[in-house]
Amino acid sequence: MKLFNSFNLSGLELSSRIVMAPLTRRRATNNNVPVNIMAEYYGQRASAGLIIAEGTSPSPNGVGYCNMPALCNKEQLNAWKPITKIVHDNGGKIFLQVMHAGRVGHMNNLPSGAKLFGPSAIAQLGDVATYNFGRQKYSVPVSMSLADIDNAVAEFANCSLLAVEAGFDGIEIHGAHGYLPNQFINQSSNFRTDAYGGSRYNRLRFLNRIIDSTIAKIGSNKVSLRISPFSYADLNENPIELRKLYLELVANLNPKKLAYLHLSHMGEAVSEKFVLWKEIRTLYSGVLMLCGDYTKEKAELAIQNGDADLIAFGRDYIANPDLVERLKNNWKLRERDKAFWYTNSAKGYSDYKDYSY
Ligand SMILES: Cc1cc2nc3c(=O)[nH]c(=O)nc-3n(C[C@H](O)[C@H](O)[C@H](O)COP(=O)(O)O)c2cc1C
Repeated sequence: MKLFNSFNLSGLELSSRIVMAPLTRRRATNNNVPVNIMAEYYGQRASAGLIIAEGTSPSPNGVGYCNMPALCNKEQLNAWKPITKIVHDNGGKIFLQVMHAGRVGHMNNLPSGAKLFGPSAIAQLGDVATYNFGRQKYSVPVSMSLADIDNAVAEFANCSLLAVEAGFDGIEIHGAHGYLPNQFINQSSNFRTDAYGGSRYNRLRFLNRIIDSTIAKIGSNKVSLRISPFSYADLNENPIELRKLYLELVANLNPKKLAYLHLSHMGEAVSEKFVLWKEIRTLYSGVLMLCGDYTKEKAELAIQNGDADLIAFGRDYIANPDLVERLKNNWKLRERDKAFWYTNSAKGYSDYKDYSY
């Protein structure tokens, strides 16, 4: 099977084409500092070809969820080091997903002085868990000024540099699932009339600047991008417009020579998505990773067909730290247990054991 073959990712030797998808687990401290059980958890999963560590904020403004980790100060930098070390000691490779939640969050979850930002002052629909007030409606974001945008771009670049200093093999920019760069892309969250709103080119400007500024800091072989065309975040978008926008983005990515482009689907797998994924595969000249509802068989088929180079697994990695070995040997996967996805302890997190007879 090709799935278990090693893969050269811009000079980084991956032991297989199986990737652990980024999974927010909300185990960091209330100051967004990684904790010891996170090193244990990631160390247990080092047999993945590549781990993409959970969405991590480059800014105090980007931590919309309780207990999500950040990487923008010295304490956070030092706390990430043992995590990358244990993964490397166990023979693995690890990228960091850099995720600015933007308007997806609540003021109660942000440190004092921080601002919940968005391209426009339009709240995300729905509610979110807070530290002190249970579930609350999403806060109305502050519409970012041009200086706020420059600052956020600089925060992404700075975070990429800190990630390399912390020992990560590279970063994945979170351009998916309705978080800040995605909020700029979508017409339902971006009503700006300046250089960051209106045309497709303008709505892509923020993301393109983040890509360019991180490449300038750490090199294109260490920078990758996740996008999610037609995910739940795009329900109010015009599908024709969205398709054109993603094809425009991808065409412009080719000369940037990223480590990889990662396409994810969350929620309903609408048929437009798969038509577009094929178009992106044809248009894109670099390494393509797919994620969403893959089994071993579907993953192998996608690679054999040439639809993808790498396949990421999300939910199955939560309860199966030895997922590669289980798939290789056709061992049973442990059942998914949603109850512990976002709880704040080792239970249902770092206490899943490897397969035993
Ligand atoms: C608990 C949980 C947390 C997630 N956190 C993130 C995240 O931080 N960043 C991200 O891009 N996707 C996140 N996702 C989406 C997964 O990366 C993945 O796309 C999704 O689970 C679909 O893949 P699967 O069918 O293999 O589980 C999360 C999914 C789950 C279930």
